[in-house]
Amino acid sequence: MPVPASPIHLLDPKASYDAFLTLSASLLLARTPPDAIEWNDSESGAGSLFDPTLTPDELASFPRIDEHTSRITERLGRRGKLVAHHADPDRWDLLYRIAYRLSHGRERDLLNDILDPDTRKLETLSHHVSRDMHKMKAFVRFQRVRDAEDEQYVAWHRPDHRIMRLIAPFFVGRFGAMRWTIFTPHESATWDGQSLTFAEGIPADQVNEHDQVEELWKTYYANIFNPARIKINAMVKEMPKRYWATLPEAQIIEDLLQDAPARVRRMIEAQSTSAGATPFLPPRDVPLTVLAEEAQACAGCPISEMATNTVFGEGPPNARIMLIGEQPGDEEDRAARPFVGPAGQLLNHALTAANLSREDLYITNAVKHFKYIPKGSTRLHRRANPSEIRACKPWLDREIESIDPDTIILLGATAGQSIFGAGYRLHQSRGHRLTHPNIRATIYPTIHPAKILRAPKHEQPQMLEDFIQDLRTATQSPSPS
Ligand code: URA
Ligand code: SF4
Repeated sequence: MPVPASPIHLLDPKASYDAFLTLSASLLLARTPPDAIEWNDSESGAGSLFDPTLTPDELASFPRIDEHTSRITERLGRRGKLVAHHADPDRWDLLYRIAYRLSHGRERDLLNDILDPDTRKLETLSHHVSRDMHKMKAFVRFQRVRDAEDEQYVAWHRPDHRIMRLIAPFFVGRFGAMRWTIFTPHESATWDGQSLTFAEGIPADQVNEHDQVEELWKTYYANIFNPARIKINAMVKEMPKRYWATLPEAQIIEDLLQDAPARVRRMIEAQSTSAGATPFLPPRDVPLTVLAEEAQACAGCPISEMATNTVFGEGPPNARIMLIGEQPGDEEDRAARPFVGPAGQLLNHALTAANLSREDLYITNAVKHFKYIPKGSTRLHRRANPSEIRACKPWLDREIESIDPDTIILLGATAGQSIFGAGYRLHQSRGHRLTHPNIRATIYPTIHPAKILRAPKHEQPQMLEDFIQDLRTATQSPSPS
């Protein structure tokens, strides 16, 4: 007897994550396997949403559909939401397959399995969308529309992904007092001072990117201008050419720079009280992977402007020993992993000599971005200053809270200053077990391995021996006294 082909559902969430979630909830309740669905991918989020798979009567017979929807939302997490706005036409397939595996496949730990292809793809796509949002926040420029009755501002931006809906609330927060429309190729968003509406986008070939940008933007730019953050080279590198046509700052940068010293002073004063990384933190108790992901978008201090990657801590979430270094160097910045350059190699050697396995440890830095000055084709490491160390501390606090290690080893003075404040002196603390009122772990200060690399050759063997001894002492339980 021929096996009846299972019916294929043709579904179209029209670029709306909410529509996808409702659809998925009904499909999962009906135990519909992923390969019985063909997800369509229309361009626009506007217009009618979908033909429900279940009839209204059937839906009503599942009174818990809302509950089910929120369970899927929770399981797919922030990454699910980001991926829903990716331009990849297969994203709905991926999201549904993961939702199905998490519920009916009983693979509850799927999203912690970094070797699983679906988990990896979720990670990669969500990273693309985060970056795209980061760029849109930095590069959207409004123009005033001349003949509008009321003040009205428009902006055009060409993101790589369909992020308009995801990012619109950010612009409402920042420009809530203006009436504005942002156009992208997929969708437009309009804020009338009270509500947000979405409509069709404008295809890129219909936009005149050479329109003059008007007074408002100049005023706005002059107000937020931050001379210490102007990194023209970094900007050019970061910003694909297509954004340049909508950037007016070249016209006014000269004027602003002339006023720079006073502004720099005021800025430094303002910075000492700034919130640093805090506004970028996710809610408490999120898994470490989410924390690391959110840190990718941190712009809590000026260092983020120069670096290529946020280098977050690395290691098992249940590690008992945590090592805190200073900040990533050139190689760490490129690899987006801590301690992989020369200091990292020396550290690996010392860990082995101290009978410790790097895989068991959680290794991080006090500051998560690489600070440097460019010199020719190289980048010279610069020490993070106290306000940058303070700015980055919220990430470190969250890592400590999440790992809750028994032992923390501080590598060098910067790590110590981060935990104990600017008054910390390594030479006074080395060799002592320290405690901190907010930290359960025993804290053990030692030198930074890079210090050994910088020392005169004849001093290196002894320094290395002492460093290894410190690592041993720190990780052995204190002898009862
Ligand atoms: N030095 C550090 O402090 N951290 C790194 O990740 C690399 C070098
Ligand atoms: Fe944020 Fe820290 Fe990077 Fe500064 S160094 S931008 S605070 S992650």
